[in-house]
Amino acid sequence: EQIEWDADAAEKGGYEHYMLKEIHEQPQALRQALSGRVDEMQGTVELGLDLPAEYLRSLEEIQIVACGTSYHAGLYAAHLLEEHADVRVTVHVASEYEFRGGRDPWRTLVVAVTQSGETAETLGALRDAARTGARTLAVTNTVGSSVTRAADDALYIRAGPEIGVAATKTFVSQVATLALLTVHLGRVRDTLSATEASEILGDVRGLPGAVQRALDADEQVQEIAEAYADSEAFFFIGRHLGHPVSMEGALKLKEISYDHAEGFPAGELKHGPLALVTDETPVLAVLTDGANADATLNSVKEAESRGAPVIGCASDGRGEKLLDAGFDVPSLGEMEPLVANVYLQLFAYHVANSKGRAIDKPRNLAKSVTVE
Ligand code: G6P
Repeated sequence: EQIEWDADAAEKGGYEHYMLKEIHEQPQALRQALSGRVDEMQGTVELGLDLPAEYLRSLEEIQIVACGTSYHAGLYAAHLLEEHADVRVTVHVASEYEFRGGRDPWRTLVVAVTQSGETAETLGALRDAARTGARTLAVTNTVGSSVTRAADDALYIRAGPEIGVAATKTFVSQVATLALLTVHLGRVRDTLSATEASEILGDVRGLPGAVQRALDADEQVQEIAEAYADSEAFFFIGRHLGHPVSMEGALKLKEISYDHAEGFPAGELKHGPLALVTDETPVLAVLTDGANADATLNSVKEAESRGAPVIGCASDGRGEKLLDAGFDVPSLGEMEPLVANVYLQLFAYHVANSKGRAIDKPRNLAKSVTVE
């Protein structure tokens, strides 16, 4: 008997696509991001950064610059930083950064979030900031990338190589790494007690297990994704930490399925998008802790009363309030929306796969965009 050897299939580790492999690598990617950095008992983290305590205490603003999925990770982290480190955080799409002003370079830390470390617009924004005298930090997956040479300091997310054009595991690794930075800042700036810090760190440490539970429900996600794959359009809603996740869920779906998808804060549904909601437009809702779930349920009712199927990613039994489908998110405080995101990644994957799309290399898109 002859054994078929296919190098490409071997690299995908038995998965049909790199994207699916990378979705399933998230628990491992997260463990790598946390490895050796967290002291949960003491409520401290060690990131090996050259950011003097005095400088961190004097900080008035953090500006995050990023594109695509990394921008959504930045939006998520901004909420954590503002809440726990009591610092103003603005998040900028890197290509729009040059049109903004009003910063005091000496009290501003500019953080470039970029998986590849090579995105031209993110590099451009970071260099602009450095020229004005601001201190810069790169949060990246790629050792030795251009951004690490351009920035004063680098913080690695350690997700391992990501081949699929649509970013998956790097999103959760970026947010987890930025959550560690948040705890570090909160401790240095004395806005977080040791007890509060260890609670946050406990939730971050719970991520690999919670993400694994979502991955284990893949068959259920596939069934629901296939049932709704031929819909006219998809809306993703969430509030607070659920907002960046709703934007990321919509981005994943449009990138690989080519379906129309929009993600926005749940409260905005009634200010426009509701005009498009019909029984042909599923609404995917983030109904977890950290996402103002009870208020989001009001938006869910608005959508349901227009006949829209609602698919919720829900913790605490909130999914039972939905007429249609619900995916279970285990209890994990402010990290819950990240688990919801894993369901949305799987949903996008299965919708696209049922249509036979080129999932790892979607049309018109590139893994890393090195020209402006
Ligand atoms: C491209 C990719 C996206 C990615 C974005 C930013 O558009 O297709 O998946 O999110 O670049 O990439 P970066 O490497 O800077 O995170």
